[in-house]
Amino acid sequence: MRAVFAADIDRADPLRGLDIGERPDPKAPHGFTVIEVRATSLNHHDLWSLRGIGLSRDALPMILGCDAAGVDEEGNEVVVHSVIGSESWLGDETLDPRRSLLSERYPGTFAERVAVPRRNLIPKPPELSFEEAACLPTAWLTAYRMLFTRAGLAPGATVLVQGAGGGLATALIGLASAAGIRVWVTSRSEEKRAEAVELGADEAFQLGARLPERVDAVMESVGEATWAHSVRAVKPGGTIVVSGATSGDAPPAELRRIFFLQLSVVGSTMGTRTELERLIQLCVRRGVRPPIQMTLPLAEARKGFEAMLSGEVHGKIVFAP
Ligand SMILES: NC(=O)c1ccc[n+]([C@@H]2O[C@H](COP(=O)([O-])OP(=O)(O)OC[C@H]3O[C@@H](n4cnc5c(N)ncnc54)[C@H](OP(=O)(O)O)[C@@H]3O)[C@@H](O)[C@H]2O)c1
Repeated sequence: MRAVFAADIDRADPLRGLDIGERPDPKAPHGFTVIEVRATSLNHHDLWSLRGIGLSRDALPMILGCDAAGVDEEGNEVVVHSVIGSESWLGDETLDPRRSLLSERYPGTFAERVAVPRRNLIPKPPELSFEEAACLPTAWLTAYRMLFTRAGLAPGATVLVQGAGGGLATALIGLASAAGIRVWVTSRSEEKRAEAVELGADEAFQLGARLPERVDAVMESVGEATWAHSVRAVKPGGTIVVSGATSGDAPPAELRRIFFLQLSVVGSTMGTRTELERLIQLCVRRGVRPPIQMTLPLAEARKGFEAMLSGEVHGKIVFAP
């Protein structure tokens, strides 16, 4: 079958190891089933894998991709929850020390078919297209957990989203505004600031700009380039939820501010199957949909990777096998 895979790892030039070609059909281990992939979407995780972060050389070649919507062996339309826990784990899957995402230990979703645990399948509602559903399991699920589970934000609160154009940032904007939260965003690009306001942000600012007032919580995934601003933007007693460090992970810690203002710095990773089910229901009931920048056949996946590497992402990039 056709697939997009990491054939090599290169921290400085990640696209050097990207390959598109034939891979053997997936075999379903005990408890797994094979899904025919109708749509899948690109995440920064796929670039990290090509840089060797979360993927080791001895796992190569590895089919990339965490997200999938498709059709199961019985003909049901499904969305795949990408967090693969150990069989014996009970409770929050994101806390299982042996969990992995598709494309880390098991082959990923950038292929015509993928093997996934049966318990990771969620029915796809007819209201969502395969392309829309394929955007939800990583970026949108992470945004849902950051806002509602980890920050516990309520309607009427104010949140600052660092970064505006990416898959996670656009998800944070869409979900927070649908939940009645005032959304402020920052972006490097004037065009993306304008797009963020169209997507539902209340105001968009340049990176590091002074805000009209301090916010209840900051959603941080940019890391080094925005950390100092995040620490200054949040109210005393407020929360910074961290789910990524795209621009680097060694900013000054700002420890004095953190203890003196009694800030909570909270990590967040992916989400549970239940959170994914609730996210899907929220999208169906409130009409929230992921903005899709482009849909490409697998054969042209490199174009999508190039756009992400150069920072030219406006929402989600979808591949349709
Ligand atoms: N923990 C988890 O489970 C989880 C899940 C999903 C994502 N993540 C992490 O979250 C981050 C974003 O993921 P994504 O898939 O949304 O990636 P993406 O689509 O490539 O988006 C990158 C984002 O970073 C922003 N950014 C701002 N300043 C930047 C700078 N100096 N350098 C680079 N980017 C900058 C961009 O905003 P502008 O272009 O508007 O400035 C954009 O919103 C990644 O680090 C990813 O690994 C983590």
